[in-house]
Amino acid sequence: MENRPLEYDYTVTKMFMFTTIALGIVGMLIGVILAFQLAYPGLNLMLGEGLAEYTNFSRLRPLHTDAVIFGFTLSGIFATWYYVGQRVLKVSMAESKLLMFLGKLHFWLYIITVVAVVISLFAGVTTSKEYAEFEWPIDIAIVVVWVLFGMSIFGLIGIRREKSLYISVWYYIATFLGIAMLYLFNNMEIPTIMASAPDGSHVGGNWWHSISMYAGTNDALVQWWYGHNAVAFGFTVPIVAMIYYFLPKESGQAIYSYKLSLLSFWGLMFLYLWAGGHHLLYSTVPDWMQTMGSIFSVILILPSWGSAINMLLTMKGEWQQVAASPLIKFMILASTFYMFSTLEGPIQAIKSVNAIAHFTDWIVGHVHDGVLGWVGFMIMAALFHMAPRVFKREIYSKSLMTSQFWIQTLGVVLYFTSMWIAGITQGMMWRAHDEFGNLAYSFIDTVTVLHPYYTIRGVGGLLYLVGFFMFAYNIYKTMSARPVEESELQSASPMGA
Ligand code: HEM
Ligand code: HEM
Repeated sequence: MENRPLEYDYTVTKMFMFTTIALGIVGMLIGVILAFQLAYPGLNLMLGEGLAEYTNFSRLRPLHTDAVIFGFTLSGIFATWYYVGQRVLKVSMAESKLLMFLGKLHFWLYIITVVAVVISLFAGVTTSKEYAEFEWPIDIAIVVVWVLFGMSIFGLIGIRREKSLYISVWYYIATFLGIAMLYLFNNMEIPTIMASAPDGSHVGGNWWHSISMYAGTNDALVQWWYGHNAVAFGFTVPIVAMIYYFLPKESGQAIYSYKLSLLSFWGLMFLYLWAGGHHLLYSTVPDWMQTMGSIFSVILILPSWGSAINMLLTMKGEWQQVAASPLIKFMILASTFYMFSTLEGPIQAIKSVNAIAHFTDWIVGHVHDGVLGWVGFMIMAALFHMAPRVFKREIYSKSLMTSQFWIQTLGVVLYFTSMWIAGITQGMMWRAHDEFGNLAYSFIDTVTVLHPYYTIRGVGGLLYLVGFFMFAYNIYKTMSARPVEESELQSASPMGA
């Protein structure tokens, strides 16, 4: 048994690959609609006035953010865990009936939760906290889904054959623990039916409705401690876990430095948790907390770039692979965008820069060079790497991959450059004043000026979405092609498991 290659079981991986693609399409499609709604407000009524309640920007926006974060990204994290976990721990899911059952339960409860989220957000049921919009019954379901994820991580670790934990496993564990802590604290809420007014009378309201346990400034602080660390433990740590596994696998190169990977790991863990204050600069949060947020944000460049440089140096002496392999292109561009957004973020966290950037489209630009260039590219690269191995088929078309790469790269560039120009224009126009202190421009002046940039962003987003459809088609055709043995796969790495 020990000497025979293990037969890994990819049932749960395949299930989550499916939701990564499906929810990616839904989330990004809504993103494109939102982008064009900002350029052409008439689109808020695209299905007529009767349905405006369901099609307006504010109803659709949380559906976009939650579909891409809790749908696309989270499914990608789950799909890769069920693949990477088995391989680096040298254990098959099939060896434990219990783990297999829990894995499937994890998937189906996740699906039920997604359906509940979609229905409730469309119906306008929301706590109105960004990225934490779900009411308490859904929060409870999310906690159960998360516990099942944790059981899979620690269950597989518990029955592993490989003694040492590869660095990616550390990052997956941190994702689990980090999100668990953040989610629980930020979603402490009191169902309205249990709440009473100061005079002791019953408040009433729908059974699902709740109010936050924190008030005012405290609520804002906890919310942005959560919001910023959702970036850390949703958009950074698990994506780093993926690249540390998939880049060496695909390139056949060992990680450049394990020491650097550990140093960056602990750096990220320590620094991220203190940086959330940068979302609340110039607010009622105590000044020292704002300054602390800024300082920790700037220092955060170090572990962020530590990871990114480690990835780039992994390709040392093998740069020809970037030209030759579309998959390596995706991963190298992802690391580059990671460096880019983790330089841009700290700059925006400097108080004087934030005075211009806050509330403007420059922030939206920062978000999307991170999520499209880093998160999106890396998740697609991971699925491209896994698809031939889990379906035991050669990837359908490498030239389609290359075209997708260039179309999406152009899409990201159009997105963030237009948002930079729009954001800085907005920031400068809002603060411009004459010699008497009167504002030089009215708000609507800025809206008019921004129209072309919003249109360009819409086109950029559309290109990214077209690329995503190409990706989905390529994976679909791969699934339905002629089966081959793993050893026959062209890009199979010489590195074993
Ligand atoms: C060193 C790392 C980073 C730092 C210091 C940083 C800093 C910042 C700052 C200062 C803001 C603007 C806050 C405001 O004025 O409203 C922001 C917003 C944001 N950043 Fe980053 N960023 C970093 C990395 C990233 C990465 C890699 C991503 C995604 C992949 C990301 C996603 C976001 C999101 C989603 C928001 C918007 C939150 C909201 O207002 O809804 N950040 N970041
Ligand atoms: C086709 C691709 C996409 C398009 C066209 C798009 C478009 C948009 C638009 C128009 C907004 C609203 C901006 C505003 O309120 O001014 C938005 C917000 C946001 N999107 Fe996307 N998006 C796309 C993909 C993604 C992906 C893949 C992710 C994450 C994995 C993502 C995460 C977010 C986040 C976190 C926000 C909130 C930003 C903030 O509050 O500052 N988007 N997106």
